[in-house]
Amino acid sequence: MDNPLLYAKKLEKTYRSGATAVRALNGISLKIRRGEFVAVTGPSGSGKTTLMNILGCLERPDSGCYRFDGLQVGELSDRHLSRLRARAIGFVFQSYNLIPTLSAAENVELPLIYSTPPPAAAKRRVRQALAQVGLAERSRHKPAALSGGEMQRVAIARALAAGPELVLADEPTGNLDTQTGHGILDLFSKLNASGTTILLVTHDRRVAARAQRQLHLRDGRFA
Ligand SMILES: Nc1ncnc2c1ncn2[C@@H]1O[C@H](COP(=O)(O)OP(=O)(O)O)[C@@H](O)[C@H]1O
Ligand SMILES: [Mg+2]
Repeated sequence: MDNPLLYAKKLEKTYRSGATAVRALNGISLKIRRGEFVAVTGPSGSGKTTLMNILGCLERPDSGCYRFDGLQVGELSDRHLSRLRARAIGFVFQSYNLIPTLSAAENVELPLIYSTPPPAAAKRRVRQALAQVGLAERSRHKPAALSGGEMQRVAIARALAAGPELVLADEPTGNLDTQTGHGILDLFSKLNASGTTILLVTHDRRVAARAQRQLHLRDGRFA
């Protein structure tokens, strides 16, 4: 069966503030199959983050159809959307978004609050996720005691803790030097090889070259 994990048809999104309107997405259609590693590229302001937020069920489009794993996302309540996100989608951001007062392990454990596995299972998942990103030895460190690359690894472990089918990464190497960025991209390649579908957003064509397939955005459309 050719049932894509992500299916979008003619997505439109306009941001309005007062009299001005910005058309961020202008008729986006795509299909992403399970197990793909896809990069979305485009200049600043082309709509990459807006697209990622819609595909990650953080925002709703004004119009168009979006199906995640066959589910009509537009028909789900906000509560169902939160549950879908917590179970199936992991997010990685440019600036890591770790909580500074929590240890690496506590940061990784946070999203499990929504899926509430029994405590022992939660601890096991946190350990596994940190081991997956090569940080088993750093679990008690606070973010300030970690390098940028290590902080991003913790953020990736947090994205993996619930065992998502899809990882969405928005400029994940944007704050890192080239070599550290390559390490993070190697990690995404490894995750992808073990079956996780990855959608990586970047304005850097060399980063995008690490994906199996590239989609280029310009002014809210695929070029
Ligand atoms: N919350 C918002 N309110 C108003 N305009 C927004 C908002 N988010 C994005 N935009 C505008 O939508 C366009 C696309 O933005 P974005 O999706 O962030 O692009 P990119 O991630 O490619 O830089 C830009 O013109 C941006 O200024
Ligand atoms: Mg962006």
